[in-house]
Amino acid sequence: MTGETDHNLRGDYSRMRPDYTVDQDWDAYSAAEHDLWRRLYRRQEGLVRKYGCDEFVETLDTLNFGEGIPRFDKINAMLGPKTNWKLVAVPGLLPDLTFFDHLANRRFPVTVWLRNPEEFDYIVEPDIFHDFFGHVPMLFNPVFADYIQAYGKGGIKAHALGAIELLARLYWYTVEFGLIETKRGLRTYGAGILSSGGEISYCLDSPNPNRIGFDLMRIMQTRYKIDTFQETYFVIRDFRELFEATAPDFTPYYEQLQGREPHSASTVLASDRVYHRGVAPVVRAA
Ligand code: PHE
Ligand code: CO
Repeated sequence: MTGETDHNLRGDYSRMRPDYTVDQDWDAYSAAEHDLWRRLYRRQEGLVRKYGCDEFVETLDTLNFGEGIPRFDKINAMLGPKTNWKLVAVPGLLPDLTFFDHLANRRFPVTVWLRNPEEFDYIVEPDIFHDFFGHVPMLFNPVFADYIQAYGKGGIKAHALGAIELLARLYWYTVEFGLIETKRGLRTYGAGILSSGGEISYCLDSPNPNRIGFDLMRIMQTRYKIDTFQETYFVIRDFRELFEATAPDFTPYYEQLQGREPHSASTVLASDRVYHRGVAPVVRAA
């Protein structure tokens, strides 16, 4: 997910390069791991057809990586010509600046290891299934691909301005948990949802959470929960809206927001464009 760092990370950080990249070593995956991937993929494939945005589903169909853990080099041969992005293999979560630097240079870090079978329904740390299945199809969309790069550049700046916490909320509520309007109703483009067996129907069908119109400043002052389903989802009208709202220099925005008390994850404000007001307390994610 984001580049939050270093307590008890489970990847092998002992053989990486200075930029935290490693070789994928595809031949080292076991038959059991490929089988687990196939099962994860099959479960999620049906769900994203119903709840995922068209851009995601169409790319998933063309890429066709359901038969086993994909090879990054094969995907790169398709991704490069499309949006000039490249996947790089990493041991797991990265330090903030390392993460931002990869994104700013159109390199998307993908964790090499796959979860255990007991984690079929829920995993705390991002693994290859989350990173790949959730994020990679969206990198084939030109506008979204540009947004992620701009985010990386913005992250380097936010780091210098002491504003990472504000900016991280934007990543969380868009790249990981964002909803989008479509002709067929609300759908999701957020990787944390697209790779989740439970939250994908919850975020769109459940009466419990709030669904509120995208508002940059509002999002940057809203806390989020990392160990439950989200209490609030933010809805964009299209990827242009997201790209254009985030194009200005954030320096004055940070100045305005720093020192202000953030809203809780469940708050609904009078100024919100409400699609749906949540009715019930949140359900645990696990
Ligand atoms: N425009 C932002 C800035 O100046 C950078 C940014 C772009 C942040 C896209 C997030 C998403 O900091
Ligand atoms: Co993620």
